[in-house]
Amino acid sequence: MIAEQNVPLQALNAFGIVARARELVRVRSEADLQAVLADPALAAQPKLVLGGGSNVVLTGDVRALVLKVEVPGRRLVGETARHWIVEAGAGENWHDFVGWTLDQGLPGLENLALIPGTVGASPVQNIGAYGVELQDRFDALDAVDLQSGQTFTLNAAQCAFGYRDSVFKHVSSGDNGLGLAGRALIVRVRFALPKVWAPVLGYQDLERKITDTGITNPDARCIHDWICDIRRAKLPDPAVLGNAGSFFKNPTVTPEQCADIIARDPKVVHYPMPDGSIKLAAGWLIDACGWKGKTVGQAGVYEKQALVLVNRGGATGGEVVTLAKAIQTSVYERFGIRLEPEPVVV
Ligand code: EPU
Repeated sequence: MIAEQNVPLQALNAFGIVARARELVRVRSEADLQAVLADPALAAQPKLVLGGGSNVVLTGDVRALVLKVEVPGRRLVGETARHWIVEAGAGENWHDFVGWTLDQGLPGLENLALIPGTVGASPVQNIGAYGVELQDRFDALDAVDLQSGQTFTLNAAQCAFGYRDSVFKHVSSGDNGLGLAGRALIVRVRFALPKVWAPVLGYQDLERKITDTGITNPDARCIHDWICDIRRAKLPDPAVLGNAGSFFKNPTVTPEQCADIIARDPKVVHYPMPDGSIKLAAGWLIDACGWKGKTVGQAGVYEKQALVLVNRGGATGGEVVTLAKAIQTSVYERFGIRLEPEPVVV
């Protein structure tokens, strides 16, 4: 275990924001973490767990000890009657892992292709795209308690998955001791991939691919390639233009609120949810407020998808946050809806 000092973070966050970590340790195994906790000076520091950096906005140099998760490994570890169980180290690149499962002949993750970030971050956000969420393919994960150094395992129910949400995004409080934000580092994730695979093709963008190509029964590799095409067409590549994917969650409203908005804006994009609520497309709301292409300093709203904020080169975290707040204010003033950010502001 080596503690590096004054480490540049620009290449370690998808927004490409210039910042430094006062001290950083690369965690390749539980042993590295246990060495950190056995060192009194390191153990005493507040800690920031960093995966692929695809869901953070850095607003300055990081004073906390940065634990950069680099645990490797991908393997088939078991099976049940209906699933193959595949395990990956938290430091594995998510998209490469999806490709690897397909190479092994184990479909199920193809709709989640090209999502930036690492395997370890995928349950934190309960990543989702094109009709599949991580929780639909999740088996269990191993994490290390940052206080005690003990490894523990959580199943899906214990992760308390929600829309872009899990127990890892909540801080525990007096009446709710369940939050694990800042308290644990995920080291491995296991996925349950269906032995009898069925394609998930319900999204309009995928239906359009079927119409355009004439392929009515695509295999998982074909769906993977379609998803990559669709994402490349509307989402910027963080390696080229810094961004953290969707900056806000899609809000849900009551049918009455939705009817009120439709009365004023008949084109509002909305989807009925199984629980009777209505999900609105945050991208549409932001677009309707005229934000596409607008900037604050070097932070901007992506021209092809208003839900994505981008770094036009040298943006500060402060500029990103100012832009995000201005968007929230204008969407609230026009629609009465408070948009909730997806990324964590550090
Ligand atoms: N729209 C606009 N203007 C815009 C952006 C979107 O009118 O500037 C409209 C679109 O035309 C479409 C609707 O809004 O009718 C929804 O847009 P899109 O299909 O691009 O999906 P989204 O709701 O914006 C969500 C996820 C994405 C995920 C896609 C596909 C959230 C916050 N975002 O985006 O996830 O890839 O669906 O499933 O749920 C992410 O979380 O980082 C992410 C990229």
